[in-house]
Amino acid sequence: MFNKGFKCTAVVRRLIPWIVLTKVMLVLYCLTATRQVNISPTQEKTCPLSVAKTSPGNITGSPDSKQDCSPKVNIMFMKTHKTASSTILNILYRFGEKHKLRFALPDRRNDFCYPQPFLCSQVKDYRPGECFNIVCNHMRFNYQEVSKLLPPNALYVTILRDPVDLFESAFHYYQKIIPLTWSISGNNKLTEFLNNPEAFYSPEAINSFYLKNLLFFDFGFDNNLKVNDPRVMKEIQYVSKRFHLVLIAEYFEESLILLKDLLCWSMEDILYFKLNVRRTSSVSRLDPETRAKALQWNWADWKLYEHFNATFWERVEAYGRTRMERDVKELKRRNAEMRATCIEGGDAVEAQRIKDTHFKPWQPIGEKSIMGYNLRNDINPERRSICAKMLTPEIQYLSDLGVNLWVTRLWGWLKDYIL
Ligand SMILES: *[C@@H]1O[C@H](CO)[C@@H](O)[C@H](O)[C@H]1NC(C)=O
Ligand SMILES: *[C@@H]1O[C@H](CO)[C@@H](O)[C@H](O)[C@H]1NC(C)=O
Repeated sequence: MFNKGFKCTAVVRRLIPWIVLTKVMLVLYCLTATRQVNISPTQEKTCPLSVAKTSPGNITGSPDSKQDCSPKVNIMFMKTHKTASSTILNILYRFGEKHKLRFALPDRRNDFCYPQPFLCSQVKDYRPGECFNIVCNHMRFNYQEVSKLLPPNALYVTILRDPVDLFESAFHYYQKIIPLTWSISGNNKLTEFLNNPEAFYSPEAINSFYLKNLLFFDFGFDNNLKVNDPRVMKEIQYVSKRFHLVLIAEYFEESLILLKDLLCWSMEDILYFKLNVRRTSSVSRLDPETRAKALQWNWADWKLYEHFNATFWERVEAYGRTRMERDVKELKRRNAEMRATCIEGGDAVEAQRIKDTHFKPWQPIGEKSIMGYNLRNDINPERRSICAKMLTPEIQYLSDLGVNLWVTRLWGWLKDYIL
């Protein structure tokens, strides 16, 4: 698992048992959860459209949509890592809660046994044949299984981000749980790694997938395909066949407008505050040469991104450029209004300055780089609840939705107080 010449520092020696212990615990938990359902003699059934909830009840059509349509409620959001997907998750949670939709939620932790491929048995209270409206937590995508949970008219959506920035972000966020990076010396580990990735990387090592084509991995594909491997294009075609809309994090507002259009939702439904954002001082700016190396290293992800960036702009074109500009402007205006209403000081603050633990975001090991918000004290009561929901980080929201997160909390406790 380690490279030759790897030197165990005191810190690393202290980390290993905890990481191994936690991993073993998570794997054991996933195995027991899976076995329970496998024993059941009922054969796996798919959710039929006839019993699925397909309309949110009272609301009819989105008021600012031209065509007559009714809001869509059956949604698969494939939550990719480090792509602003937490912000989308918050939007989905609020919509689902407001319209009393049924979420397929993970059990005891905040993901579906990631990085293992998704199985229905990982869903909280799952019974074969049951129907859900929304699936949106972290998973390693597995269409065969996901499709059993949702009615056949469900819409599949995901989000991609420039693979270079994603790589930088994942490297920063996960390096403490990727043993491969521990042996890299120097104070710029990322550049060091990219100068000679093969010297450090091994596909079999624990958590190595965070370091190479993480998007490809999240979609359930082989993340170690070589440059120019024809299977890369085949997998990209697969994504375009399965997903009705692929959002692009760099064009976040435009993405939300396309999402709203696809789902026939209202502008109010897609208002947001950026969640899980890293303070800029912790983001490494990469020079062009390093960027080129990162691209080459994440070639499959790069091809994926390039393809869907192109189709994204075709869709913007089809939507109408001017119409898009107008809608983005309106979205920004209403978001600014919400920020002024809800957020103390109108902007994100460093983790140490967040007063209420309910609004403190999850942090990577040994860091406090993820920013958060304080709720204003003087909000009128009707606005208070929506403001609070918009500011609630992913883990706390999941807990509010009824998931008992003991595995995640235990890991959080080890991470914050022991490591
Ligand atoms: C639908 O309308 C009824 C009566 O107006 C109300 O009690 C109920 O909460 C509404 N349901 C939703 C989902 O908004
Ligand atoms: C994405 O598409 C836009 C519009 O065509 C283009 O300006 C931009 O350079 C593209 N980005 C990448 C990384 O291909």
